[in-house]
Amino acid sequence: MITRDTIAKILDTAQVEDVVSDFVNLKKSGAILKGNCPFHNEKTPSFVVNPNKNIFKCFGCGKGGDSVTFIMEHEKFSFPEALRYLAQKYHIEVEETETSTEDKQAQSEKDSLLIALNYAAKFYQEQLTETEEGQAIGLSYFKERGFLDSTIETFQLGYSPDSFDAFYNQAIKDSYNAEILLKAGLIKEKNGKYFDFFRDRVMFPIFNVSGKVVAFGGRILSATKSDNPNIYQPKYINTSETDVYHKSQILYGIAQAKADIRKQDVCYLVEGYTDVISLYQAGIKNVVASSGTALTKEQVQLVKRFSQNMVILYDGDAAGIKAALRGLDIVLEQDMNVKLVLLPDGEDPDSFVKKNGTDATLAFIEQRQQDFILFKASQGMAEVKNDPVKKSEMIKDIVASIAKVNDNIKRQLYIKHCADIVEVSETILVNETNKLRTQQFKKSREISEDEQTQINNAVSIEEDHSQPISKIPKLYYQEKDIIRILIEHGDKEMSEEATVAEYVIFELVDIEFKNDVFGKIIKLYMDAYSNEQPLAAVKDLNNISDPEIKDCFIELMASPYQLSSNWFDKHEIVVKDVNRTYKSDVISAMQRYQYYKMGEFLNIIGEKIKTTDANGNYEENIAAILKHIEMKQKQQTLAKEIKTVIHPS
Ligand code: CTP
Ligand code: MN
Repeated sequence: MITRDTIAKILDTAQVEDVVSDFVNLKKSGAILKGNCPFHNEKTPSFVVNPNKNIFKCFGCGKGGDSVTFIMEHEKFSFPEALRYLAQKYHIEVEETETSTEDKQAQSEKDSLLIALNYAAKFYQEQLTETEEGQAIGLSYFKERGFLDSTIETFQLGYSPDSFDAFYNQAIKDSYNAEILLKAGLIKEKNGKYFDFFRDRVMFPIFNVSGKVVAFGGRILSATKSDNPNIYQPKYINTSETDVYHKSQILYGIAQAKADIRKQDVCYLVEGYTDVISLYQAGIKNVVASSGTALTKEQVQLVKRFSQNMVILYDGDAAGIKAALRGLDIVLEQDMNVKLVLLPDGEDPDSFVKKNGTDATLAFIEQRQQDFILFKASQGMAEVKNDPVKKSEMIKDIVASIAKVNDNIKRQLYIKHCADIVEVSETILVNETNKLRTQQFKKSREISEDEQTQINNAVSIEEDHSQPISKIPKLYYQEKDIIRILIEHGDKEMSEEATVAEYVIFELVDIEFKNDVFGKIIKLYMDAYSNEQPLAAVKDLNNISDPEIKDCFIELMASPYQLSSNWFDKHEIVVKDVNRTYKSDVISAMQRYQYYKMGEFLNIIGEKIKTTDANGNYEENIAAILKHIEMKQKQQTLAKEIKTVIHPS
């Protein structure tokens, strides 16, 4: 059991923004930080971190809590596992009441694998730096390659000795269990005997995003290779899949690079371990490697947590180009911006940066980055020459890539440029792209019967916004209702973590109120919140100089309920009783506001559908129709929820 003292220490030290930002790209927004929620899929950020309160909250899916609950939820850890994770992150020593052998065994198997892997990394490191063999063979190899001690330390590089079982024997002596070593991929079994998996290689530990060793890559030493010219030995051997190492989800270097990827807002993707290390050593730290395999969706999503921009740095030879192109569609599908830099033939980033230095490398990347789709088009053209069959296949392939781009304007531009490059008319490319996108759309629209009935049953309260009240601008009542609630209930508790005012402020962070005075009042609350002033002070009339704002406060404070029921009267909604608590008042006011906001947005899209139809812009037209359907569904779902709040059964 972890002691209370240790738990307290961990909770005191762990800063939620720091813990969360290992997984979510957070942007400052006043006194809070916002980002895309890692627990559900979203395009606009509703995930909020409040550093002052040391909590996080997603207003989209409702998940919220502190550093520990975040790690538990995100990594699917148990409470003690999450505490251990944080303790390690902050270098806090974990004191336990008794660590009996039983306790040790009771630790989850994953934990044991990670502990064994960490032990192995330390073992290989020691072999490299502390033993004669390691220094003579491994360390001298790294030095020859120009790796500094600090770099070797950062990447925890090591050496596995030229022995069948040196690691195995040491691990058993230190009471590690052979079963676990086997499951971690550190040893292998043959005829009932155990052998080290890595022998006579320099070792590259592979870390997961939170900095834990999950696997290894071991590189053969050139000396060994020439000693055994008849025996084939692969240059690298890597840990195979284990419970803690899923190759498709890991990028080499991400733990060391993530902070810089966020800072520079771009991620360089290279092929090899040594490319990552050399660039890092040269001060170009925002770099990861796919380790010689084709890029996967999970890997792209991993990068996307830290930046939307990716630049692929590959060798300009045919193999390098092919490898780069294989990753293209996956990156495009994830709505990332992707550029390509081809290095001079025969160079990889490692050799390039060694030869040319940091500044020249960065300049080269800056000048030579080219758009990936356009590159694919020109590359394809060069390859097919004048073969019409090959050419049509090549064009289909490019169209498939273009169709993956979700941004309409970007897609149009691609079509225009690619039409020039592959020498076909723009119309053909437009038509082909549209065909594909319609197919993609149909696929994504295949919804279940359940969902369909739910949509059909959704209550429609459309009359409300189709009959605007004369002269009074739309959304006036909804905005006013929110202000009323802010003034009346602002400092009451909304949830364990937030007051009503905080809840409302968070919800409205990037929305502008139409009514000037209401907008100013919201701003007063937001300012007070970000300056950490008590929210109650906002409604102190002595502090308000603007007469309009003052009048509004007085009016709303004088007759709070009357105004609320006034709203309901105007909209012919019967308020059953006063049983409603202020919390449901808050929620329903926010929902009604959203509902009308959506109505407004639907009108705009409706206009767009008409104009794009009239001027024959088929593509934009479809996009607008899709958007309309999506929005309408959201609105209907919301309508259903509003009804539940207004008429509690
Ligand atoms: N790789 C592998 N197995 C091999 C060859 C390569 O797993 N037999 C992977 C490794 O992850 C390697 C990457 O593919 O890092 C790129 O290969 P390469 O460019 O040959 O390796 P480098 O890391 O550049 O190594 P070095 O510079 O030492 O040759
Ligand atoms: Mn190399």
